Amino acid sequence: MTEIVRTVADLRARIAGWRAGGEKVALVPTMGALHAGHLSLVDAGLSRGCRVVVSIFVNPTQFGPNEDLAKYPRQEAADVALLAERGAHLAFCPSVGEMYAQGSATRVDVKGLTDCLCGAARPGHFSGMATVVTKLLLQALPDFAMFGEKDWQQLQVVRRLVRDLDIPVDIVGCPTIREADGLALSSRNLRLSAADRAIAPLLNREMRRVAEAVAAGGDAATVLADARARLTGAGFGRIDYLEMRHPETLELAGARPARVFAAAYLGDVRLIDNIPV
Ligand code: PAF
Repeated sequence: MTEIVRTVADLRARIAGWRAGGEKVALVPTMGALHAGHLSLVDAGLSRGCRVVVSIFVNPTQFGPNEDLAKYPRQEAADVALLAERGAHLAFCPSVGEMYAQGSATRVDVKGLTDCLCGAARPGHFSGMATVVTKLLLQALPDFAMFGEKDWQQLQVVRRLVRDLDIPVDIVGCPTIREADGLALSSRNLRLSAADRAIAPLLNREMRRVAEAVAAGGDAATVLADARARLTGAGFGRIDYLEMRHPETLELAGARPARVFAAAYLGDVRLIDNIPV
């Protein structure tokens, strides 16, 4: 059984009990609508011999005014059942009021790394994300915190804030989990229409084509422009970015080491992905 706690005080009490028994703690921060990607993060905590705490909190401060906060899937009972089956020890499911007390005025801003990619396309997103992740880390003070590589920029931002703020936690990046057709697992996939779900794997297919062509010596700008055209032709709407960047600095890269990063819309669902070149 996975116990649910809803207050920071209860979370800290459970963790203090484990600590008194000499146990280690892993935190898996999520916004719920759990899928195999999240469960692989739980496994990463369990395989390190930790008590695993999964936070489920749809964080309003990381959504822009025209984004999908209201439509974001919420299914706590199903999520907690999945966690119980997987062997997670505790679900932390705070209310918005518990996380952001009235008058809450402090934000965590990571400069530079957040100027590009999703930071450019979603103003304020990383400030809200970095703030809630900092709070979760300070609330739980885990030994490890697990993040999926699907949100590669998020992972870099979290690594930087932990370093800059001297938060004593080991940040663990875990590989992206994909459907058989290559689509990266995301809670947002639940909102794709059947027609859009059929098109969605093209994003990863085109990214792989880019990575292969560039690795074989192709001109990055041409290869990226061709991929963009094919995605639009196949039915993708706005493409926020399709770019090659350095894996850690996230600066635009024409040569290796580099990753291909993409964010594109199908209907009102925004898909993101990244792969190494
Ligand atoms: O990746 C997510 O689901 C969220 O950005 C996170 C890390 C749980 C913070 O709200």
